[in-house]
Amino acid sequence: MVKRVAVLTGGGDAPGLNAVIRAIVKTAVREYGIEVIGFRDGFKGVLEKHVTMLSEAEVSGILPRGGTILGTTNRDNPFSYQVAEGISRDRSDECIEIIHKYADALIIIGGDGSLSIGYELAQKGLKVVGCPKTIDNDLAVGQAKTFGFDTAYAFATEALDRLHSTAESHHRIIVLEVMGRYAGHIALHAGIAGGADVILIPEIPFSFDKIIEKIDDRLIHNKRFSLVVVAEGARAIDGEMVINNYVTQSSDPIRLGGIGEVVAKELEKLTGIECRVTVLGHLQRGGSPTPYDRILATRYGVAAMDLIAQRQFGYVVAMDGDNLKPVALAEVAKGIRKVDVKGDLLSCARKIGISFGD
Ligand code: F6P
Repeated sequence: MVKRVAVLTGGGDAPGLNAVIRAIVKTAVREYGIEVIGFRDGFKGVLEKHVTMLSEAEVSGILPRGGTILGTTNRDNPFSYQVAEGISRDRSDECIEIIHKYADALIIIGGDGSLSIGYELAQKGLKVVGCPKTIDNDLAVGQAKTFGFDTAYAFATEALDRLHSTAESHHRIIVLEVMGRYAGHIALHAGIAGGADVILIPEIPFSFDKIIEKIDDRLIHNKRFSLVVVAEGARAIDGEMVINNYVTQSSDPIRLGGIGEVVAKELEKLTGIECRVTVLGHLQRGGSPTPYDRILATRYGVAAMDLIAQRQFGYVVAMDGDNLKPVALAEVAKGIRKVDVKGDLLSCARKIGISFGD
């Protein structure tokens, strides 16, 4: 029987993390009489034994708050943990020992990095349940959405609405760079919702000639401005992804960023039309979750706690349509979910004239 469960938030933060924590605590206490503790700052907090009790009082009022009351980090991996400058050690056994000292099982609220670590720890005997978090919506949990995504692309959509009027007034091309790592979900969704003319995503390498074809077509129809959404992981057919920096201790050390500037410069050179670029950056990760994300996060928190109480470990909670359907951690650890380039959403975008630069 599970008497006490531990929770941690790992990887980049996403709107809805607090809503999940709140739902876990409420369900644990009210439904199952299980105690909840939190490790601060992801796996770093486990290894540093940075623990806090989570009762209903601690989670009161946090539903609409962005970020995570537990703190997080996207750089500490217990399988390769930095113990001194340039020296890393496998501390996974110690990590499991510490978790078992404090709790009977662990809920990891994380993206592919933290959940892959969770999978490896589960292989070594840890009782784990995962909650799918990321603004990138790139977790391999079937067709289920990750919480945080709706808030992120709603914000990018609002940005496009604002850029629309200024681009139109100045007859400019405005390029909006959005996050998403190696998947174009944020760019595709925000681009369609925000009426973009061109959407560039990592799944479809683009050519400047094709983008210009679209801009010229708009000029013929007396549209003297254009909006281009570019995902940070997009690249030209003959180009590379643009890397902003490397975070050495991270399970994925590459941090993307900068393609927006490259696209804007090249388009200005090739078309003679004035271009501007806006990089949304971490604004996409902050702020209060949308109602959709609050509900999704709440459902995921409740479902994670249900699995714990039923002793069904090794799963990530996910929604199949309106039904909760857990996915094996092993599936999530296999790799990320990219945009389906043959999917209905992309074909719908093409049919209304959006160019993908191909
Ligand atoms: O995975 C979430 C995400 O925001 C990505 O979209 C982005 O590439 C990355 O994290 C940025 O990471 P950091 O917070 O380390 O800059």
